[in-house]
Amino acid sequence: MKTFFIETFGCQMNAHDSEKVVGTLLNEGYSQVVDEADAGLILYNTCSIRDKAEQKVFHRLNEYKRMQGEGKKFAVLGCVAQQEGAKIFEKAPYVSMVAGSSSYRNLPDMLARLEAGETRITGLDDRETDQTFDTEFTARTNPHRGYITIIEGCDKFCAYCVVPYTRGKERSRSSASVLAEAQRIAGQGFTEIQLLGQNVNSYVDPSGRRSFAELLAAVGEGNGIQRVRFTTSHPRHFTRDIVEASDAMPALCDHIHLPVQSGSTDILRAMNREYTRDWYLERIAWTKAARRDLSLTSDIIVGFPGETDKDFEDTLTLCDEVGYDAIFGFKYSTRPNTPAIHMADSIPEQVKVERLAILNARQRELQRVNYGRHLGQTMPVMVEHGANARGQITGRSTQNKTVNFTCDHIPAIGSYIDVRITQAFPSSLVGEAVSRSTTPSPVLLAQQALNARVPVLA
Ligand code: SAH
Ligand code: SF4
Ligand code: F3S
Repeated sequence: MKTFFIETFGCQMNAHDSEKVVGTLLNEGYSQVVDEADAGLILYNTCSIRDKAEQKVFHRLNEYKRMQGEGKKFAVLGCVAQQEGAKIFEKAPYVSMVAGSSSYRNLPDMLARLEAGETRITGLDDRETDQTFDTEFTARTNPHRGYITIIEGCDKFCAYCVVPYTRGKERSRSSASVLAEAQRIAGQGFTEIQLLGQNVNSYVDPSGRRSFAELLAAVGEGNGIQRVRFTTSHPRHFTRDIVEASDAMPALCDHIHLPVQSGSTDILRAMNREYTRDWYLERIAWTKAARRDLSLTSDIIVGFPGETDKDFEDTLTLCDEVGYDAIFGFKYSTRPNTPAIHMADSIPEQVKVERLAILNARQRELQRVNYGRHLGQTMPVMVEHGANARGQITGRSTQNKTVNFTCDHIPAIGSYIDVRITQAFPSSLVGEAVSRSTTPSPVLLAQQALNARVPVLA
């Protein structure tokens, strides 16, 4: 029997790639196991966005090495695979396959070569590929939210970032194929769809039929689709019609993740972000003028080379001005191949640590106030987990906020229920159900039963 174990790191796109890799393996006759000791093939889907990603991978591979006497095969996938390439074979000779995400469409062929005993298989397409990884074999691990990658790669070349090198150039799927997949998974009972791309709103329909905003609306019109999310939006391509689409289409969620990275125009220029602070704030003003309360979230880097106290202060005041509902703050880390590697990493680690702590503390205070705006509101919540020790059920609002609530019946996972908010914390809301939950479709329940038997991703 052919068995595999997969471990996945990195962003949502990497997690979804793994769902497609798992689907492909299952279709090739492999079975997934939850314990690596039971696996004939161990796959490691890697991320190299920050820190010493390469070292971590080699460290992990060394741990795997202990198992090599047992006749196991090893494959390294993802962004570190693409970045380090065949060097991985030198440092970890027991690895038989190294493949970046632009090569996954060739997986069946690579697996056949692996089974035939080849030990130096590479899938390292350069960044010029215009192919995407479209497959109907996707082992979805989230039973209610279906992910669909609509655009792969990145052409932005921000000075600090590895992604354009690890994922290749931007290439979009046709809107017809996206809509067909959306409809297919809606037919399986999924009611929420999340469209994915490193810059999801750089989407360009190769058939020229739909703009990104039109694609959002078309996905939202699909039968049975209640929620449509999309991530990550790049400010450079954030156009007014995205806000107009959300005004017009109730299924589009009230949440936009629009990473700013820095509040200082000088640092934004050094980062090659291609916008200024004011240009960003103008887009924010559009979202604030929307008919619904659109929740905004962001990624922020502190300690980019040359970031002065004044630049950092600009980031803090930008956060005050925008009023984000969440931010993901990171200390700048030097990455191989990126232009910023030639800039002196001038900000001492201690200063980066302090700035990140200040940013997070300030943001927490903002959220303490911001989340209070929901007190007394009644909002639809999608149920994600059954009751915890305190008898609270957990779900998510359209703004992607965690809502813990009490209920006089047990709502099914994946159902929707109206909750009245009685308490607000800096990153969650508490309330009580004021309606009966909707019943998820029989297809979704069957899918959940099936998923309960399929091991989940690491
Ligand atoms: N395409 C998205 C970001 C994807 S990477 C965008 O442009 O917004 C996710 C986040 O990791 C980035 O938003 C950035 O905040 C962070 N990041 C990327 N490279 C980094 C680096 N070298 N050091 C620290 N943080 C980094
Ligand atoms: Fe990286 Fe910039 Fe591309 Fe985002 S837009 S993936 S930060 S290069
Ligand atoms: Fe990491 Fe690659 Fe995603 S570097 S964040 S897995 S695109």
